[in-house]
Amino acid sequence: MKSEENNLMKLTIITTLLGAVASSNVRLGGVKGGHHVENVLSSQDKIEDKFGNTDPYFYQDAIVDHFAHNVASEPANWKQRFYYQDQFCVKDDCPIFLYIGGEGPQGAASEKLFMWELAKEKGALMVSLEHRFYGESYPTVDMSVESLTYLTSEQALADLARFIEYISSLSPSSSTAELSKSSPPLSVSASLANSKWVSFGGSYPGNLATWLKLKYPASVAGTVGSSAPVQADYDYYKYAEVVGAALKYELIGGSEKCYDVVEKAVASLHDSVSSTKPMGTDSSIPSSLKPCGPIKTEFDLYAYESEVFGNFQGTVQYNQQSSAPTVSDVCSELTADHATPLDALASTVEKYYASSDACVPSSWDDLMAGLLEVEFDGSSAMRQWIWQSCNEFGYFQTTQGGVHPFTSLTSCNINIAGKAMCEQAYGIKGYEGPQMSGDKTRYASTEMYGARSIQGANITMPNGNMDPWHSLSVVNETSQFYEPAEITASETVVEIDGTAHCRDMYAPNAFSPQFNDTGSIVWAHSKIKESVDAYLED
Ligand SMILES: *[C@@H]1O[C@H](CO)[C@@H](O)[C@H](O)[C@H]1NC(C)=O
Ligand SMILES: *[C@@H]1O[C@H](CO)[C@@H](O)[C@H](O)[C@H]1NC(C)=O
Ligand SMILES: *[C@@H]1O[C@H](CO)[C@@H](O)[C@H](O)[C@H]1NC(C)=O
Repeated sequence: MKSEENNLMKLTIITTLLGAVASSNVRLGGVKGGHHVENVLSSQDKIEDKFGNTDPYFYQDAIVDHFAHNVASEPANWKQRFYYQDQFCVKDDCPIFLYIGGEGPQGAASEKLFMWELAKEKGALMVSLEHRFYGESYPTVDMSVESLTYLTSEQALADLARFIEYISSLSPSSSTAELSKSSPPLSVSASLANSKWVSFGGSYPGNLATWLKLKYPASVAGTVGSSAPVQADYDYYKYAEVVGAALKYELIGGSEKCYDVVEKAVASLHDSVSSTKPMGTDSSIPSSLKPCGPIKTEFDLYAYESEVFGNFQGTVQYNQQSSAPTVSDVCSELTADHATPLDALASTVEKYYASSDACVPSSWDDLMAGLLEVEFDGSSAMRQWIWQSCNEFGYFQTTQGGVHPFTSLTSCNINIAGKAMCEQAYGIKGYEGPQMSGDKTRYASTEMYGARSIQGANITMPNGNMDPWHSLSVVNETSQFYEPAEITASETVVEIDGTAHCRDMYAPNAFSPQFNDTGSIVWAHSKIKESVDAYLED
């Protein structure tokens, strides 16, 4: 466990790993480590041949503030990274598939994506736009609090709409000036003026895909927003509840026994760790669970306990989508013959999660250091993403509340994981959550987008019922985490039994053979394809 990488993983467990991995130029960047998602490209693959043009471009006409009240002066411009892959587009007005970037560096689309397969079939141009403030797309010189005021989903949606307009304006006869709004200048072989757009995104970009169609209905014909947690939630213990449900779900190798062992093990771990002063010095703590440093405060305890919880989070969120241990692996070890539940946990950590330094990070200061860094470095995403979480979505993955096996990890509470983090990282005083000022019962993002009641058209919403994030998504009534929502007749829910985060976004059988697509995934792909076919009809 390299602490910096794992901290990032944990804080941004709603990560961009998907985007990164399904891109040809695999740039795990700031989110490397933690849960490695398998890269199916072997090193001898010729990426260029396979993926067409994967060079980055920069759209030089992006604007910093789409909602500036003072429009007297020209809006300041900045450069937003994008990719333009036109190998399948062989005629004028070919469809355009927009791959929406999110909370991390964005790469070009690759054949690992289901979107790729659809693009090939439809003869679509694929463009991918990186999200402002992530990767190499910087609207400001740094990430000071003042600069970060331009980091909102609203600005990101306006970026997408503006970029769509730009690409749609191009044709082989475009002027050099127009083509040079991109650096390097784009070479365009088809007229795109009457192209139909379909947008795709997963996780936070799944929200953006959904909200783009809602807020800019004319920009795209339809959208596929996968695993989109459209409901904001400050004290997000439901995440832990789905982790618990997955540890029990027999279809993916869970069991009641596995759940029980985890519950007992974390309870006895918490007792052992917090029984001494300083905490974590009890000699009964198994070696694979020893903290890396002294646990002096509740905050250090949070750093430690959230790491233990984080192992299970990653396992469930990326179950069967990576070379990381699966629920089945972990439950087999947990339920094997061990003297105590704590021994079972220690052995599981040793087998699947421990790294060479063989200790569990336990420093709040280390955690905060990553959040306080205001310089851009091309890959780090933590300061940006937690800023968005503090202001817009919450999503703080706590363990205090709900029914799940992690309730003994008392330090993973909203006062530390949410309030203290937001206050200390951005110098916010008296922070109370992303709720609206004046009405603490409502989230501003709900006012803006409608939470689960999305009143739009031509929106497809795939989810997996073993993805922790589906508890904040629009799902069907069979889910334990279903909450009523009002959606429209042209909005389609596609809920996949037994799958984890963004599973539908991967091409058929994109993983190693033992994780080949189940019947539910095959069904989900056919539903998504049906939607996309309909969106592209004249
Ligand atoms: C509803 O969810 C169940 C369980 O995941 C699934 O089998 C079913 O196909 C879903 N139906 C729709 C319309 O998404
Ligand atoms: C997995 O899928 C691949 C490719 O479609 C196929 O060749 C292989 O036989 C499948 N393996 C299993 C175990 O189903
Ligand atoms: C939705 O898609 C259909 C084609 O299936 C199209 O006729 C209609 O205009 C679209 N509606 C919106 C609001 O985009």
